[in-house]
Amino acid sequence: MTDWVPDRSLLRDRRVQYETAGLDRDDLHPDPLVQWQRWHDEAHEAGVAEPNAVTLATVDDAGRPDARIVLVRGADHRGLTFFTNDRSPKSRQLEAAGSAAGVFAWLDLHRQVRVRGTVARIPAAESDDYFASRPRDSRIGAWASPQSDELADRAELERLVTEVIERFEGADVPRPPHWGGWRLDPTEWEFWQGRPSRLHDRLRYVRTGPDPAADWLITRLAP
Ligand SMILES: Cc1cc2nc3c(=O)[nH]c(=O)nc-3n(C[C@H](O)[C@H](O)[C@H](O)COP(=O)(O)O)c2cc1C
Repeated sequence: MTDWVPDRSLLRDRRVQYETAGLDRDDLHPDPLVQWQRWHDEAHEAGVAEPNAVTLATVDDAGRPDARIVLVRGADHRGLTFFTNDRSPKSRQLEAAGSAAGVFAWLDLHRQVRVRGTVARIPAAESDDYFASRPRDSRIGAWASPQSDELADRAELERLVTEVIERFEGADVPRPPHWGGWRLDPTEWEFWQGRPSRLHDRLRYVRTGPDPAADWLITRLAP
């Protein structure tokens, strides 16, 4: 039970506030990561659910698009980090293509951020650290669930979980070898702010050099 829920009227007020203020070139931080953090924090403060949720888009071997939400667990100049099962379709697609796109949707603030870039697995030690910080039940789930494989029924999943609980009884639950982090290193970011009459503001950063904090060309796009 929670005794606090987001106040929808507050969100409406915020949305109007951001739509009215708009987004100008001069408002943007020269570093898109800092700009993303600002917008993420504003979404968090406004009570947006899971503001770190990104819809991650990939392509499969046949060039068919795929997409699903993952949670970003870290963001720095190396990229946006998320964790998943290494045998999942998304991991296979990331591995084969080496690139991906993502969309953050903070609809209550009428904002969207798009990223495109290269992807790489993070070092095992970093995955270990993050895995160790997760609750025991989540760690058990990472062992038990053959992510995206077909299951006969819910009971099959529960059987798999029971097996893992018994296996690690009285012991620590280590990171499964088939679970870890990926980092999406954006070469493009786009910040979209909804405005009245569909005359929305869109500003895009394109990477122009080796410095991820400074080497960006910023341009305005038509809505
Ligand atoms: C809000 C939300 C957060 C999620 N976060 C993750 C995540 O961080 N990692 C993950 O593997 N799946 C996450 N999922 C589940 C994925 O969307 C997806 O169902 C799963 O990873 C299988 O995707 P795939 O078959 O494309 O590999 C999340 C789903 C939702 C709705």
